[in-house]
Amino acid sequence: MATVPSLAATVRQRVSDALSAALPEAASADPLLRRSDRADFQANGMLALAKQLKGNPRELAGKVTEALPESPEIAGIEVSGPGFLNITVADGAIVENLAARWQDERLGVPYKDEPGVTVIDYSQPNVAKEMHVGHLRSTVIGDAIVQLLEHRGEKVIRRHHIGDWGTNFGMLIQYLIEHPHELDHESDTAGAKDAGEAAMARLNRLYKASRAVFDSDEDFKARARDRVPALQSGDPETLALWHKIVDESKTYFQAVYEELDVEIRDEDIVGESAYNDDLQQVVKDLEESGVAVRSEGALCVFFEDVKGPDGTPTPLIVQKSNGGFGYAATDLAAIRNRIGELKADTLLYVVDARQALHFRMVFETAQRAGWLPEGAARQLPFGTVLGKDGKPFKTREGETVRLVDLLDEAVERAAAVVREKAGEGVGEEEIQRRAQQVGIGAVKYADLSNSMTRDYVFDLDRMVSLQGDTSVYLQYAYARVRSIFRRAGELKPVPHPELALEPAERALALHLDGFADTLVTAADEYAPHKLTAYLYELATLYSRFFENCLVLNPEAPQQSENRLFLCDMTAKVLRQGLDLLGIRTPERL
Ligand code: ARG
Repeated sequence: MATVPSLAATVRQRVSDALSAALPEAASADPLLRRSDRADFQANGMLALAKQLKGNPRELAGKVTEALPESPEIAGIEVSGPGFLNITVADGAIVENLAARWQDERLGVPYKDEPGVTVIDYSQPNVAKEMHVGHLRSTVIGDAIVQLLEHRGEKVIRRHHIGDWGTNFGMLIQYLIEHPHELDHESDTAGAKDAGEAAMARLNRLYKASRAVFDSDEDFKARARDRVPALQSGDPETLALWHKIVDESKTYFQAVYEELDVEIRDEDIVGESAYNDDLQQVVKDLEESGVAVRSEGALCVFFEDVKGPDGTPTPLIVQKSNGGFGYAATDLAAIRNRIGELKADTLLYVVDARQALHFRMVFETAQRAGWLPEGAARQLPFGTVLGKDGKPFKTREGETVRLVDLLDEAVERAAAVVREKAGEGVGEEEIQRRAQQVGIGAVKYADLSNSMTRDYVFDLDRMVSLQGDTSVYLQYAYARVRSIFRRAGELKPVPHPELALEPAERALALHLDGFADTLVTAADEYAPHKLTAYLYELATLYSRFFENCLVLNPEAPQQSENRLFLCDMTAKVLRQGLDLLGIRTPERL
C-alpha cells in the first residue's frame, strides 16, 4: 500500500518550483494547472501573478519556462496566448506512473494525514410509517459518504436517528392495549421482502384504526395522551408494546434496505428514544445557563436573525408548555452524546434541505451551551425528489410514493433493458439477477450524480437508459472491458513505458491518472457527484479509446499488452469507484 502521487501533482510541483526559482517573491503561488485540450496541461497562474507584481505575463511565463529543469515527466513546454503555459508530458512517464497506481491495491489513493472521528446521521425513517423518496436520498447519499470517508481512513460512526418516540406512540400503544390482537399474525415463512411488506401492512392498519378512534372519541384521545408519560417513564407494559411496534418497523426497514442493497446495522439504529433519559438534564442545563428561557410556559431559545413573516422571533422550542419534549430536545441530547461520549470531531447530518432552519438553530444552541465546538457540525442538506411535472414526487392519486413500489418498478424497467441486451441464451434467473443490480444501481446513481442540494426529477426511463450519464452506461463499460479479457487468450496486461501512445490512449491514461485526486476531493468535500462525473468521463474516454485503438492485435503483442493494461486499469477504477457508491459491477450485461 503506497500513495501514488498523480502525474498532474508532480508536474504542478515542477512548475511551482520553477516559478519560485524564476521569481523568489512568487514562492508558494499556485500555478493553477489544469487538464487542457490544447496540450496535456495548461497553467494559468502566471496571469494573476503578473498582475499582482505589475509585470508582463508572457515574460513571466517565459522565465518560468527557462527555469524549468529537464525532467522525465515533461516533454515540452511553451508559452501561449496572453501568458499561459502549455505543457506536454512524456508518454513513458504517463504509463510508468499509471503502472505504479495499477500495482497498488488501493490504486494509490492516500489515507488522510490526520484521520478523525465522524459521526454521520443518515437513513432515519420513522417507526410505523412508510419509507419515502426522502429516506431513499438520505440512505443512498449517507451510505456513499460513509464508504468514501472510511476509504480515506476516517473513523466513522453511523447513527440512524429513527423517529421512534413522541406523542403518536401514545395513540398506537393505547389502541393495542384495547385491541390486543391487532398486530397478531401467522408466523412469517416467506422471504424478507414479503415479511417486510406484511409488517408494514399491519402497521398501516394499526395506524389508520387508531387514528380513526383518536379523532372521533374524546375519551380515547385522553387515554392515549396519558399513555405518553407512561412510555416516557418506562412503564413495563407500555414499553413492551412499544418494542413490538418498533420491531415490526425494523422488519420492514430491513426488507427495504436489503432490496436497496445497503447494509444498515441494528447497533447503529439509535433513534430518538435512546436520548429519553437525557432530556431532563438538557433542559436543566439550558435553563440554568440562560441559553434557553421560559416563554408562555415553553422553554425557548431565541435567535437574532430567525423571525416569522410578521417579524416576531421564531424560537427553537426545547420543551413544550405541557412539559413534553420534541424533536429539538432529542437532537440536542444527541449532540452531547456524540461529542461527549463518542468523542466525535465532526458531526454530519444527511437530512432534507427543508430541515435546514431546525439544524441551524440546534447547532447554534449547542454551541451557546458549550456542547459543540464551532464548525464541528454540519448538515449535508439534500434537495427534493420531483415528479416529471416538476412538483414533489407523488402518485397519481396525490399520495406519497412508497419506496418499495418505486424500487420494484426500477428493477422491472432494468429487466427489459437487460433482457434486450443479453439476447437469447441467457436464463431468466440470470436476467433477474442483473436487473436487480442495474435497476438499484440506476436509482442510486441518479441520486448521487445530481449535486446534493439540487432538486431532481425522478425519471426511470432516463435512469435505466444505456445512453447518457447513467449507471447502466458505466456498468456496460465495465462489462465490455471484462469481456476483452475473456477473449485475450495468452495475452496479459503489461505496462510498456517504451511505447508511444495514440491520442485516445493518452486521453484515457491521463484521466486514469486523476483517480486518486478525484476520490480525495469527493471524500473531503462530501461530494459523491464529483466521483460520478469522473467515472462517466472515464467510460466515455474508454469507449473512444476502444473505437480508435485495436486492443487485441496479434501483429503487435507488446502494444496489445499495454492496451490491456489500460483496459485493466479502467476496469479497476470503474469497479472501485462504483463500489464506493454502492453500485454493483456485473461481469456481463
Ligand atoms: N426522522 C426524520 C424524518 O423522517 C429525520 C431525522 C433526521 N435526523 C435528525 N437527527 N434529526 O424527517
